[in-house]
Order: sequence, then C-alpha cells, then structure tokens
Amino acid sequence: MASPKAKVLVVGSGGIGTIAALNLELGGQVEVSSVLRSNYEIVNTNGFTIRSCEHGEIQNWRPSKAGWSLVLNTVPIMSDSAIDRQFDYIVCCTKNIPDVNPTVCDIIAPAVTPSHTSIVLIQNGLNIEKALFHRFPSNIVISGVSRIDAHEIAPGIIEQKQNDLLHIGPFQNPNLSDEEQRLAAQRFVAIYSAGGRTTCLYKPDTGFDRWSKLMYNASWNPICAIAGLDTGELQKMGRAMDTLVIPAMKEVLEVARAAGHQLPEDIVYKTIQSNPVEENIVPSMQIDLKKVVYQCIIGNFIEHENILGEIVREARNGRGDATPVLTVLYEITTVLQWRTRKKKGHL
Ligand SMILES: *[C@@H]1O[C@H](CO)[C@@H](O)[C@H](O)[C@H]1NC(C)=O
Ligand SMILES: *[C@@H]1O[C@H](CO)[C@@H](O)[C@H](O)[C@H]1NC(C)=O
Repeated sequence: MASPKAKVLVVGSGGIGTIAALNLELGGQVEVSSVLRSNYEIVNTNGFTIRSCEHGEIQNWRPSKAGWSLVLNTVPIMSDSAIDRQFDYIVCCTKNIPDVNPTVCDIIAPAVTPSHTSIVLIQNGLNIEKALFHRFPSNIVISGVSRIDAHEIAPGIIEQKQNDLLHIGPFQNPNLSDEEQRLAAQRFVAIYSAGGRTTCLYKPDTGFDRWSKLMYNASWNPICAIAGLDTGELQKMGRAMDTLVIPAMKEVLEVARAAGHQLPEDIVYKTIQSNPVEENIVPSMQIDLKKVVYQCIIGNFIEHENILGEIVREARNGRGDATPVLTVLYEITTVLQWRTRKKKGHL
C-alpha cells in the first residue's frame, strides 16, 4: 500500500513559499495547504501565475484542492476531533521579524499539533529556532537555508530566476531525540526532492550554512538598503567596499569562528565574486526599504534583528572581537525600522 501523503501547511506565499508549495505538490507525496494573506483575493480567483526557470510558465496554479487542502486565508484552527487534519510539517516562508507582531510563533500556533508537527523555517538569520523551542517544546524544528531568487512581482505573480537550492537540517533541540530530529529532516528532503526538478540537500551543519549566508546578508544587505545602491553600484563606487562591505564581512567571519563555525578565509572574496558588478543585485532589505526612504510612502519591515542584531549580541557575549561596523549597521537599521513603524502607525 502506498504510504499516505504528508500533510504540509505552507505559511507565506511570496516567491519562496509559492515555489516551495508548487515543488512539494509536483513530487506527488504531499497534500499542500497554503496560507495566503495579502494576495488571498487574487489567488483565490485566478490562482498563481508562475514564471520559473525550473518549472516553466504556469497559469492559474493553486495548491491541491482535493479533500481538505485549500487555499486558506487564516491559519486553520486544529480541533481534537480533526485528527486527520494534523499537519506533518508546517513550512514557514514568511519573513522572520521578531520585533513586529504577530510573530512566526503566533501565526502558526493554531496549526501546530504538539509532539507531531515538524516546523520548517525557510528563513534567514541566527537563533531563529529559540523562540520556537520555547513555544513548542515537543515539536521538531528544522532549518531551511534557501538560495533561490524568487519574488512576487505583482499580487499572485511569481517570478523565479535562479534554480532552487535548499539545505535542510534539524535545529538540535537537546530535549528531543536526535534520531527523530534527523529522520524528520531527512523525510522532508525526500518529499521536497520527489519532484525531481530542484536541489534539496540534507545538511546537518545548520550553523555553518546560516553563518555563510550572513556573509552577504549582514553586509551588503543593510549597506545597500541604507545607501539606496545595489551591489553593482557599490562596487563601482569602490570606496564603500573597503570602508564598509569588506570590514563588515570580516567581522561576520570573526564572530562565526568564535562561535565555532570554521568558515573558510576566501569566503569574503567569493561572496564578492558571486555578485558581479554588471548583475546589479538589489538585496531584500533594499527592496523593503526603498519605498519608505526614497518615495516617502510606507515600506516594509526589515529582518535586521536576526540578521545583524544576533551577530552583535553574539560578539557582546564574548564571541569574537568587537564589531564596530556591524554595530553601526544594526543601530541604523533599528532607526529605519522605527521610522517604518511610525509611518505605519505602529508606535
Ligand atoms: C529543555 O527542557 C528544560 C526543562 O524543561 C528547559 O528548562 C529547557 O529550556 C529546554 N531546552 C530547550 C532548548 O527548549
Ligand atoms: C540573503 O542573501 C541572499 C543571497 O545569498 C539574497 O538573495 C537575499 O536577498 C538576502 N535576504 C535577506 C533577508 O537578507
């Protein structure tokens, strides 16, 4: 008998979440429910339009409608009588912004079945698992580090320009069985890989992956955001590379090493090389801030707490030397977040 399909709830249907939902469906081993928020109306009517380098052009796509799988605009409340609706995995693809409510924990809480649901965080930053360990002590929490370039370019329209590469591994919760945490992560790799079009790898060293990604996300990301210049423009300018970008990367390297993650020395050079001048890459923080800073309309909140704040705090806790550049970037992004909060009337 075929094993029953895994029940997966995908939370966040921007670029990464929609491609993840599509990919999980294609493998045929999963029933996907997606939680939509800002694009709910349009997707409910028209489905998604997806233009993807891996999946081609797809019109009117929706997560499977069979049975109870629906496009949901709120997280479904699980009741005891609805045992068969328990989610095996909740995949969180929203931004992780702990300083703004509702937090990831608040959003998913109604759908988490204690001791059963594994929570996969396809999100950036450090120490993001801690709040989940605390709130859901009997649930396995899994790290997803994604290197995909997928964006919602208009409501319900998703563009994926770069192949999906997803690294999965358990965040080690010392109170749960190592074996079960490993198996939950490996099963997710299997169902995600079943579609055969993307690369999803089991990478248990989640710290190494997360710190490596911060080389880019803690340096270029805030500096581009503050300056309003993309990675190509900053390299053309030259000076900012020597005074800000490279020093910030070196600070990340130092703190990572002090925290026990041996990133290779050439990662600084490789991180720069992988963002060629002519590609003019606009990092996500720059996209989020662009509107508010330059056009005086309301922008989005940014993920500076997990991306910068946690490194600065790690360094303050005695890991690595002082981080003068990262500290200033953190303080300035904190000011910018306050400005967004003020504009949105969230003070
Ligand atoms: C593990 O359990 C202990 C005792 O209940 C608790 O104090 C601790 O915070 C837990 N650790 C994690 C990482 O959740
Ligand atoms: C993180 O880095 C990736 C490249 O590795 C980039 O595409 C993305 O915009 C960054 N995101 C954030 C939130 O910093």
